[in-house]
Amino acid sequence: MSSTSSKIRILNHPLVLHKLSLLRDKRIKSAQFRSLLNELSLLLAMRASQSLLESPIAPYQGVKLRDEIALFPIMRAGDGLVDGMLTMVPSARVHHLGLYREKSTLLPVEYYNKLPAECTVDVGFVLDPMVATSGTAVAAVNILKDWGLKRIKFCAVIASRAGIEALTAAHPDIDIYVCAIDDVLDERGYIIPGLGDAGDRLFKTA
Ligand code: URA
Repeated sequence: MSSTSSKIRILNHPLVLHKLSLLRDKRIKSAQFRSLLNELSLLLAMRASQSLLESPIAPYQGVKLRDEIALFPIMRAGDGLVDGMLTMVPSARVHHLGLYREKSTLLPVEYYNKLPAECTVDVGFVLDPMVATSGTAVAAVNILKDWGLKRIKFCAVIASRAGIEALTAAHPDIDIYVCAIDDVLDERGYIIPGLGDAGDRLFKTA
């Protein structure tokens, strides 16, 4: 991979590997899928917040998060990572982005964006469990950079190798946290082995 690969952190932790194996199992029900995604988002939140700046407060010499953090879930699968992230970072604001992949072209289409006029966020965690072609991920980061966001951490559960390479090529300045990178992307833009359609499995719509 290119020199940008130093920005990619794969969560190679036994708990992540265990939960991810269960998540990939097509026999589990939506409730368990939702719960596992939530548990993985806690672990992603821990890892993605590791480098956040802290500043001491007197007289206890404690530490306090200095950054204003916002979550940017990409609807709808990104919603599955919000609760866990908020459990770990309750002070974060949440701004939803609506982007879907047009089925024939696989190109991203924006359908929802209610970002406030001014960007007052220091760090943004963009949430999408799946980075397949990365078209949606690249578009979401473009939107946030155009809005004025300077520091972006992309949190995903599974990415395709092609997708992660395209995302780092388009945005070499962002940090990416991912639980696994799968090698194959099929002609429909699905990650193989992946876990199927995360939104459908999350919301029981398949
Ligand atoms: N989105 C999904 O939910 N799954 C994939 O495999 C690709 C995109």
